[in-house]
Amino acid sequence: METIYDILKEEHDQLADLLQQAVADSSKVSFLKIRIRAEPHMIGEEKFFYPRLEETEELRDLIAEAYKEHNEAKALISEMEVMEERDESWTSKLSELKQSIDHHVKEEENKVFERARNVLSQQEAEELAEQYVEFKRSYMNRVEAGELPV
Ligand SMILES: [Fe+2]
Ligand SMILES: [Fe+2]
Repeated sequence: METIYDILKEEHDQLADLLQQAVADSSKVSFLKIRIRAEPHMIGEEKFFYPRLEETEELRDLIAEAYKEHNEAKALISEMEVMEERDESWTSKLSELKQSIDHHVKEEENKVFERARNVLSQQEAEELAEQYVEFKRSYMNRVEAGELPV
């Protein structure tokens, strides 16, 4: 069965592709594809993954850092939402966003996942995956139903 690491890693890879695409074409459409994937990913991690890891004392600093990096990405995303691709700083904001997310993903995969594997049992990692996938499904349904801003 898939674990939370498998699911998150898969989404990280998709995000990396989208970021590369966005930097290549510098379009707002490409940016919006990143946003619609990055936002529920971060919310899901903050809802199901991070709180469980914070229970372990020695993971707290690492998770605090992860929240900080999420907030940095979220701030950039909301800044870019109201920008146009012809804006002077669009390209630099986009590469800032790419750097910020790439860095966070690397830290998450190399440090957070690594330590989490010592804390979570296989069964727990599978249960978290189920909860996360279920959350994502209902979030995306709400987006499609127009209940959440896109
Ligand atoms: Fe992640
Ligand atoms: Fe994250």
